[in-house]
Amino acid sequence: MEFPYTRNRILRQSAAIREMVRETHLHASDFIVPLFIIEGSSQREEIASMPGYYRMTLDLIEAEVKELWQMGLKSVLLFVKVPDSLKDNAGTEALNDDGLMQRAIRVIRQTVPDMLVMTDVALDPYSSYGHDGIVVDGKIINDATAEVLGEMAASHARVGAQFVAPSDMMDGRIAMIRESLEAERFHNVGIMAYSAKYASCCYGPFRDALDSAPGFGDKKTYQMDPANGREAEREALMDVNEGADIIMVKPAMMYLDIIRRLRTKMTHPISAYQVSGEYAMIKAAGEKGWLDEEAAMMESVLSIKRAGADLIASYFAKTIASKL
Ligand code: PBG
Repeated sequence: MEFPYTRNRILRQSAAIREMVRETHLHASDFIVPLFIIEGSSQREEIASMPGYYRMTLDLIEAEVKELWQMGLKSVLLFVKVPDSLKDNAGTEALNDDGLMQRAIRVIRQTVPDMLVMTDVALDPYSSYGHDGIVVDGKIINDATAEVLGEMAASHARVGAQFVAPSDMMDGRIAMIRESLEAERFHNVGIMAYSAKYASCCYGPFRDALDSAPGFGDKKTYQMDPANGREAEREALMDVNEGADIIMVKPAMMYLDIIRRLRTKMTHPISAYQVSGEYAMIKAAGEKGWLDEEAAMMESVLSIKRAGADLIASYFAKTIASKL
């Protein structure tokens, strides 16, 4: 064959042809918007390590979710900042049907009834130790924690949560949550399981946002070792066998291979969480003028979707939706 009969650049020569052969497209409905909620009224606090991202009081959240819905964003993932005085080693406040999380669910369901409300299910924001589970003799104990998580999920369902998202990495918690939801006949509440959640350096800004950094040690006895790939398949299989509806990989950008790996092995929808540290890196490089922030943002989420994610939880969701 004579050089060059195949010219790959033909399909790149104009915006029109590039758009027509593009394999991956972003839609506002791909995104899940994380929201940080605080007690009080009319307060909006910027998170120092997450420039342009805020903790908000519930009254401001109302306006925020209306705006998000108008932009085509269909789902929010709720996190609350709990005052120290309400933290303990049992997750007591997590089960309070009038706690901040539960009030937030009610308010958002009333404000935008079609918005999909997903809630974080884990004890760390409620824990006096800053761990995702109950601590006994310096260890995070599994089964008692999973039981509380089941009750926590039911408490969220009672006030209207449509999806619960356990982010704790205890073994067997999906089964406990499903059982607890079934016991109260919440047959339509979904579980988005953080199946492959790694012990990553990228959660720092989130822990600043919620004041939830571990008081001792780290989370390596429950979150996954970043060196492991096969183990992600085992975690995801276990979660779907226990009744998970959506499986999640977290963080996203450093774990694109895990997203792809699960995409080829599993049939369930996969969501990927572009976490606080991933947001912070792009923002910081943008602020310094070292990267084009908007281009970096777009390329990052496009890559996450190309790797195989159906859904993307991202702090860039609103900015991206405004550009689509
Ligand atoms: C805690 C939880 C964390 C995140 C979501 N849920 C932090 C952690 O595991 O320490 C991180 C999200 C982010 O960094 O954006 N259960």
